[in-house]
Amino acid sequence: MYPRRWRWPALLCFIFSILFLFRQFPFQILPSPHRFPYAQKNCPASPPYPSFKPPPGRRFNWRDIDTQYPVQDFQRLPKTPSKNDLPRVQYNFEEDPPSLYEELMRKRRQAAVRAAFSRSWTSYKQRAWTKDELQPLSGGSKTTFGGWGATLVDSLDALWIMDMKDDFEEAVAAVAHINFKPDGEVNMFETTIRYLGGLLAAYDLTDCKDSRLLEKAMELGDMIYASFDTPNRMPVTRWDSIKAANGIKQSPAANGIIAELASYTLEFTRLSQLTGDMRYFDAVSRITDILEQQQNATKLPGLWPVGVDVQTPDLTQDSLFSLGAMADSAYEYLGKTFQLLHGTGKAGQYKKMYQSSMDAVIEHLLFRPMVPDQADILMPTNVRVNGLSHIQQDHTAQHLACFTGGMLALGGRLFQNTTHVEIGQKITDACVWTYRHAPHGIMPETFTMHACPTLDVCPYDTGKPSVHPGFASVSDARYILRPEAIESVFYMYRITGDSAYQDIAWEMFQAIDSRTRTQYANAAIQDVMSDKTERIDSMESFWLAETLKYFYLVFSDPALVSLDDWVLNTEAHPFRLKG
Ligand SMILES: *[C@@H]1O[C@H](CO)[C@@H](O)[C@H](O)[C@H]1NC(C)=O
Ligand SMILES: *[C@@H]1O[C@H](CO)[C@@H](O)[C@H](O)[C@H]1NC(C)=O
Repeated sequence: MYPRRWRWPALLCFIFSILFLFRQFPFQILPSPHRFPYAQKNCPASPPYPSFKPPPGRRFNWRDIDTQYPVQDFQRLPKTPSKNDLPRVQYNFEEDPPSLYEELMRKRRQAAVRAAFSRSWTSYKQRAWTKDELQPLSGGSKTTFGGWGATLVDSLDALWIMDMKDDFEEAVAAVAHINFKPDGEVNMFETTIRYLGGLLAAYDLTDCKDSRLLEKAMELGDMIYASFDTPNRMPVTRWDSIKAANGIKQSPAANGIIAELASYTLEFTRLSQLTGDMRYFDAVSRITDILEQQQNATKLPGLWPVGVDVQTPDLTQDSLFSLGAMADSAYEYLGKTFQLLHGTGKAGQYKKMYQSSMDAVIEHLLFRPMVPDQADILMPTNVRVNGLSHIQQDHTAQHLACFTGGMLALGGRLFQNTTHVEIGQKITDACVWTYRHAPHGIMPETFTMHACPTLDVCPYDTGKPSVHPGFASVSDARYILRPEAIESVFYMYRITGDSAYQDIAWEMFQAIDSRTRTQYANAAIQDVMSDKTERIDSMESFWLAETLKYFYLVFSDPALVSLDDWVLNTEAHPFRLKG
């Protein structure tokens, strides 16, 4: 027993220790999944005011880092709720309902896609849980994008959409423990489209009820926003997070990439819509203003070159223009951000930029492939501008550029231009053509085709050298489980209602699944042009996040993730358009 005179001090000591523990570990002691004070009844129709702040936790807090170059005036989203009176995007499927046989067929195909997803997901859970990627041949795991669990976060909304709700719940519980702490160089583009996009979409799909997801999106948003702390408020896209955490100044790249500069728009706009925090919307609006100012001053007016000087910023010097690698989503996000803004406020700027850029795309970036069956197809390619507007196409086709079909079809609906829908269809059909006519039914990563002299059909010239009929040369014969072709097939199906696209999708799915399937999941292929389809021990997170999601959605009821209610980011993460 203590002597009597020690009792009170001992008791006080005990009370203080308890209080101290609570201060240190409030979340361990109270592990309520809905601790977030701002849990929503449903998704806000206008940005909440005052804006949300993530509750203080024990994780690294990027808001605590001092701002070097503070912003004086913030561009803001309109305070009034946005009305969604944009033109209809999807085909009116109610008008001609499918037959019983078609419904049965659709559901069987959809079940096959879901089974493939479930197989890869189960292996990820068993062998690579919370790691960036599963290695589908060895059954190991690897770190590729920051080590925060790229596949885990990227797959959240697909789990929800495929009605794997137990797995979704388990995944969200794991996501809640991610700590976005400083850890070397970060690729901000991939972090934004995969992680931030994944978190926002998952939150939107829960009807804004699972606040753990918004909380995590805000933590990550704070980190990404810190990479905008530069003299001209342009982002550092390959950002040293350790330097940033230590208050060491960084500048935007003098030799940057247009896609990395111009692909924050959709995610940051959504984050501001959901939190009321206008820092994000302001940050992307500054980029948008510069894109608009310089759009007509480049070597190919209407388009921005692949290489850009973000430091000045000067987007007019480089001479290579493309819809493929390093450019793609800069264009994709113009029409989509217009849609996310419901055509109000700054949306007019995005509309104008979409129209000018697509005029230039249609005039300069397409060619008519010379193919044995004279199919009615158009392929996007790269252009070099030499000297005084000498414009030269290289007739390269890239799997990455196959998203263009879907982009034009969506834009054609949003801006009521049937020419865009028709061209989008011909581009989609070109990608499908290369799938169908490649040896294993899978399009390679990068190759060239012979071009007709004009955009009109021309006879096939058998005298021209080719590695395979229709394929002139193949510089990168891999297939790395990419989504862009099925993405455009999905858009064409939802927009035209033509069920031929479901049959095409089924053909593509069977070719891909059978050639890429491994003991554990699905793996990239080294050479889709050769007899033996040797595989690579890699399964990027977009296999689950995009490729299989688009396959699933092609075979789902068109009301699931309707293109009139949702806009998908460049990693196939759907953001809500209606409250
Ligand atoms: C760029 O040119 C197009 C077509 O000539 C025009 O419609 C658009 O307004 C111009 N953009 C700017 C920012 O001047
Ligand atoms: C449709 O798009 C084409 C190509 O971009 C353009 O030349 C034409 O003016 C547009 N038509 C309308 C009605 O906007």
